[in-house]
Amino acid sequence: MKVLTIANRKGGAGKSTCAAHLAVEAVKLGIKTILIDMDPQKTLEGWWQKRSEENPYLIEASAPDLENVIEKLRNNNFDLCIIDTPGDASINALSGMKVADLIVIPSKPTAPDLTAIGRTISMVEESKISYVFVITQGIIRAKATLQAASVLSQFGAVAPAVISNRTSYATAMGIGSSAVETDKQAAEEISQVWEFIKSRLFESPKSSKKKLTA
Ligand SMILES: Nc1ncnc2c1ncn2[C@@H]1O[C@H](COP(=O)(O)OP(=O)(O)O)[C@@H](O)[C@H]1O
Ligand SMILES: [Mg+2]
Repeated sequence: MKVLTIANRKGGAGKSTCAAHLAVEAVKLGIKTILIDMDPQKTLEGWWQKRSEENPYLIEASAPDLENVIEKLRNNNFDLCIIDTPGDASINALSGMKVADLIVIPSKPTAPDLTAIGRTISMVEESKISYVFVITQGIIRAKATLQAASVLSQFGAVAPAVISNRTSYATAMGIGSSAVETDKQAAEEISQVWEFIKSRLFESPKSSKKKLTA
């Protein structure tokens, strides 16, 4: 089982939206996926509760419990665990990063978000886990999106596709679904982002000894 943790110290970066959409994409490709929502605001869990399908599954875990919960999941034939974290450097965020094989940092391509990204990078680097960036809520064909990719790529790999600003994402989060089901362009970008993350997840040093099952 691989553990993918979504982190950014800034609220509204698109963490929970990313977690939900990547999970549904993984499930679509036959990957047995479980979610853990470490954010006390429980955006991801709220989305999940509105769903009728059980895969992705969801399990509750507190910060002190998290390592044990992950160990149990490893023995329960899950292929992927996606952990959503709060937009801070609390024990919940840090414990979510500690158990990860790969950390995904979603970031908006705006000046305030890029200015604040250094705090997230420092926090993630302390965990010594590999990380990648995904630009979210990008305005299609806007210069700012290209500039953000160039800024972020100085620190780490950036997903080759941008998760654009689309009402379909916000709508999907409100009804427990995925934008991929109704929006072809969202489907295309999520598929590309997932392919990129999937390849990184299976190449990360911590996971190199483990065998991919999906
Ligand atoms: N790609 C997107 N397009 C449009 N709205 C988005 C997108 N990603 C996130 N949002 C909206 O922005 C807000 C914050 O997103 P969220 O995923 O909850 O961020 P975080 O978990 O980092 O705080 C939510 O209202 C969400 O619906
Ligand atoms: Mg969130």
